[in-house]
Amino acid sequence: MRISVIGCGYLGAVHAACMAKLGHEVVAIDVDERKISELQAGRSHFFEPGLPELLHEVLQTGRLKFSSNIADARGSQVHFLCVGTPQRKGEYAADLKYVDAAFSSLIDALEAGNLVVGKSTVPVGTAARLADDLLERFPEATLAWNPEFLREGFAVKDTLSPDRLVYGVPSGEDGHRATEQLDEVYAGPMGLGTRRLVVDYATAELVKSAANSFLATKISFINAMAEVCDAAGADVTLLADAIGMDDRIGRKFLNAGIGFGGGCLPKDIRAFMARAGELGADQALTFLREVDDINLRRRIRVVELTRQLVGGSLLGKRITVLGVAFKPNSDDVRDSPALSIAAQLQLQGADVTVTDPEALSNAKGRFPELTYEPDFNAAVTKANALLVLTEWDQYRSLSPADLASQVTSKNILDGRNVLDPVQWRAAGWTYQGIGRP
Ligand code: UDX
Repeated sequence: MRISVIGCGYLGAVHAACMAKLGHEVVAIDVDERKISELQAGRSHFFEPGLPELLHEVLQTGRLKFSSNIADARGSQVHFLCVGTPQRKGEYAADLKYVDAAFSSLIDALEAGNLVVGKSTVPVGTAARLADDLLERFPEATLAWNPEFLREGFAVKDTLSPDRLVYGVPSGEDGHRATEQLDEVYAGPMGLGTRRLVVDYATAELVKSAANSFLATKISFINAMAEVCDAAGADVTLLADAIGMDDRIGRKFLNAGIGFGGGCLPKDIRAFMARAGELGADQALTFLREVDDINLRRRIRVVELTRQLVGGSLLGKRITVLGVAFKPNSDDVRDSPALSIAAQLQLQGADVTVTDPEALSNAKGRFPELTYEPDFNAAVTKANALLVLTEWDQYRSLSPADLASQVTSKNILDGRNVLDPVQWRAAGWTYQGIGRP
């Protein structure tokens, strides 16, 4: 099929490359010419494992092209909207200006029988509004909503073999045709057994908000348990193992630590609360405010634990933060709990050095005041405390014996509960986990 993808960020660039991998002819469009020229040269403007290799492969086939001109979408049968929906400044609600702008600019490129497919995470009701707009401006095309569930760090795999496909389509003949067109787009994954659900617009939009709310709730639940474990002298990692053995609960997303961040979970639960309020259903989601509060409390707690770890005062203490991306295998620092903790420690008088395998330049763009050190050994030298805040593999496998001679004081805070306390304590370190005695 001939496909256009509007928006070449974390979602769109991966989607475009994966669609080309599935055999489609793809044009990927973005207003940012710098991104387009990087991608056209086979370089990704963000870190995503497997993406550069995939770009290289599909660019060579000639099936993938990048453009900064929306008119190049003309000739495609299916158009995916993959632009961002950030949180509005000073509000909980999502900012739909990029979705609206992309949608409007696409209209002139549409041809009869085309399908416009929204993938961005939007407040429920957006698809119906855009469908009305389409009916007025170009009734020969149809709108579908097909939310994306990819995780950063696994984006290529999640796009090529998703665990489910959700199509939000209109009722009647248009809906049937839209379903057939999407089935053709996703024939590859469906052939490998990916399940697909066909629903109405509102349900499709809500599936995404509900899924992210559930994941956020699961993480905040275990972090709340970590608070209780701290108070009671229990171990939240063993507690998570034990409750996770119950199939109904499951062990995934029960890792207590410094909490969730990133470009999705925090802003999506806030946008969901804001939208529920507009719909008069705010009471249904008041629990998400608690989920958000528990999550933000983690950051304050880690600052306090660090203060205790270095003897009661942060003033002038040399603190090294290991990992600043919101999670490993990503260079994304949007709403990163690690970066927020690093900044807070610095504001409270500590001398903070941050290191990370991929996220330093993004972090520096957000908080230029911190010291950023790409060299691991230079970063840890003479530290009064090391803080593992993002669980990159290289930090999980650190050797307490090797590090001992480099630091000033053998203090380690394990913000993701990924180190073995027995091993670190045996090597003479003061080990501090989260919700672990
Ligand atoms: C998330 C959803 O998982 C994905 O389905 C959706 O499409 C986009 O949002 P992503 O933002 O890539 O994906 O990250 P995810 O893997 O969900 O992690 C989110 C945050 O939760 C990270 O900061 C991570 O460190 C944290 N987390 C995750 C925990 O603190 N504990 C856990 O047990 C799991």
